[in-house]
Amino acid sequence: MPRNIQNGQNKWKFTTYRDWCSGFWPGELWYLYESTHNKKWLSEADKFTRQLTPIASEPGFDHDLGFQLFNSFGNGYRLTKNLEYKAVILKAADSLATLFNPKIGTILSWPQNVKRMGWPHNTIIDNMINLELLFWASKNGGPKRLYEIASTHAKTTMKNHFRPDYSAYHVVVYDTVTGKKIKGITHQGYSDSSMWARGQAWAIYGYTMCYRETKDPQFLHFAQKVAGIYLAKLPEDMVPYWDFNAPNIPNESRDASAAAITASALLELSTFVKDKSQARLYRQKAEQMLKALSSAQYQSRDVNSAALLHSTGHHPNGSEIDASIIYADYYYLEALVRLKKLQVGKRLYQNL
Ligand code: GLY
Repeated sequence: MPRNIQNGQNKWKFTTYRDWCSGFWPGELWYLYESTHNKKWLSEADKFTRQLTPIASEPGFDHDLGFQLFNSFGNGYRLTKNLEYKAVILKAADSLATLFNPKIGTILSWPQNVKRMGWPHNTIIDNMINLELLFWASKNGGPKRLYEIASTHAKTTMKNHFRPDYSAYHVVVYDTVTGKKIKGITHQGYSDSSMWARGQAWAIYGYTMCYRETKDPQFLHFAQKVAGIYLAKLPEDMVPYWDFNAPNIPNESRDASAAAITASALLELSTFVKDKSQARLYRQKAEQMLKALSSAQYQSRDVNSAALLHSTGHHPNGSEIDASIIYADYYYLEALVRLKKLQVGKRLYQNL
């Protein structure tokens, strides 16, 4: 599966189906099929999606199951109603649910980091996205408790994962004995007290999705709060630096992936907010973000065969800095498909 093109190169680096990013390429192919109705994309999407099947049968090893199997099989089922896809999604949801700790009220995001980092129970903000798999499964033949798990995770995260200004920690470490929070820290951001751009984007997207799935007004309110600080602190061109508090701004790399995730989320948020001027503002901001990403500055065009340039994966690790990364392309495409639906008067979850 394609994962990234490093800055200055023009060839994709590929990973196996087990990589956390493996669902984005099949997901892109499904969006291409949805927006063109060309059967060529359908058969490619089906081929790459099926490569991920074995993951659903493995014991839950990471929260990333949602990124892997919902973007691929989930989009595939939405567009084709293929029951083989549905069976894989339901299996994956059961597997993800095994990582839920009821004493704490969240999913253990990174089991491998319990020992490696000494984080007895760790939950990362990115995990919010993978709740969609659980909500979907609970409404499509899976156990009802998956709904409770997803909604409890979202509420516990709301309580523990944010500073008073609504900026998110990347990681929260919990005590497995008391069930209480030990600390909020970073892993991919600049510092424990900084606002990592993609983490905040996951929060905006995650709480918007939680409102869609539950219609619980506290999630809508929270989505607006976490979006508010992101929008207030954005640079003029609407694409954040990799961390809003990175020390050498403006000489820091950008994160186009955060802009793509946020644009997609704000388009959806604009459909939920009752206040018309606020709804218009979210739609306008999303369109500005997409315009920026579609400019010569950010679109890859002749530089390489990705859609976007200038994303940052793991800055503290020195990896994927100012690169083309597959998830930036996925959310960019998703946002464009969403915008098209809104422009032709469709609901977001009506297929094109
Ligand atoms: N979920 C990992 C990341 O956003 O980099």
